[in-house]
Amino acid sequence: MTGQHTAPIPVIIDCDTGVDDALALLFAVRHPGLDLRAVSCVAGNTHVDQVVRNTLTVLEQAGAPAIPVARGAERPLLEPVRTALHVHGRDGMGDLGLPAPGRQPADVDAVTLLRREILASPRPVTLIPTAPLTNIALLLRTHPEVTRNIERIVFMGGAVATGNATAVAEFNVWHDPEAAAVLLTAGVPITMYGLDVFQQVVVEAADVRRLGESAEPGTRLAGRLLAHRDPVTSEEDPCGGLGDAGAVCSVADPAGLTTQRLPVEVNLAPGPARGQTIVDRRPRPGEAELHGEAREQTLVDVALDIDAERYAKLYLATVER
Ligand code: RIB
Ligand code: CA
Repeated sequence: MTGQHTAPIPVIIDCDTGVDDALALLFAVRHPGLDLRAVSCVAGNTHVDQVVRNTLTVLEQAGAPAIPVARGAERPLLEPVRTALHVHGRDGMGDLGLPAPGRQPADVDAVTLLRREILASPRPVTLIPTAPLTNIALLLRTHPEVTRNIERIVFMGGAVATGNATAVAEFNVWHDPEAAAVLLTAGVPITMYGLDVFQQVVVEAADVRRLGESAEPGTRLAGRLLAHRDPVTSEEDPCGGLGDAGAVCSVADPAGLTTQRLPVEVNLAPGPARGQTIVDRRPRPGEAELHGEAREQTLVDVALDIDAERYAKLYLATVER
């Protein structure tokens, strides 16, 4: 496991918990190379109050210390809320009947908490949004000075190839395209952990079963959540996709992710391509550029390949610690 002999990386997760956001939180609090300093919540997979409740419950089940959790935006900048309860269950956590949390969220909003924790960190923070980017856009526009203490942003969102919310748009970007466009103006290094790699990391059925039978509550929860994420729908012996948790694995162990620095922009036009991340993979300028039509585009480290087995192993070794 990496990160054991160096100081842990300070990280903050912005999430819409969400079954796989929960898997990401369970990993983050147990990996010795990560120092989870705060969690901010946003509407996405489910409504923001349910996201807050789910997040607090997951941290409690994991036996995590009292990491501050704050409620953020209850809807995207322009769009209405469009949940994904058909994927995450009525409670956003696979309807596992989890208990209500014993503690309350922070008495400040997510943007205020993000600013406070980013600037208070003794080392620059890695920000990991695994949700629509509404909170992050509001943060960047309200408190742009935070970027001086952000090492990089690794966001789960977008797709080079195929979308899921639409044929071309991934859910997190589709849910709030304007916010994703603001993210790309942050002026700090950005890694896009998109659907192209997101869907590849899967935990084998036997491992999911073992986790789900664990006597330790956090490990058992990871198994039950993974069983809810069976990509092949074999109910008797479910395997489970890591989803958002893969993005956090890539922060703990960057060597498992292959990225290329490429121009990216978000399609904001109404119509069938709204919310698409347009990734320019052309090896040379085209006619548009030759005729002076080039637009300024942000260079992003786009994830193009992943060592899925490495991350599945890392996930298991970490949550079973
Ligand atoms: O597009 C994939 C969706 O599932 C996103 O919401 C992602 O964050 C995960 O929860
Ligand atoms: Ca998510």
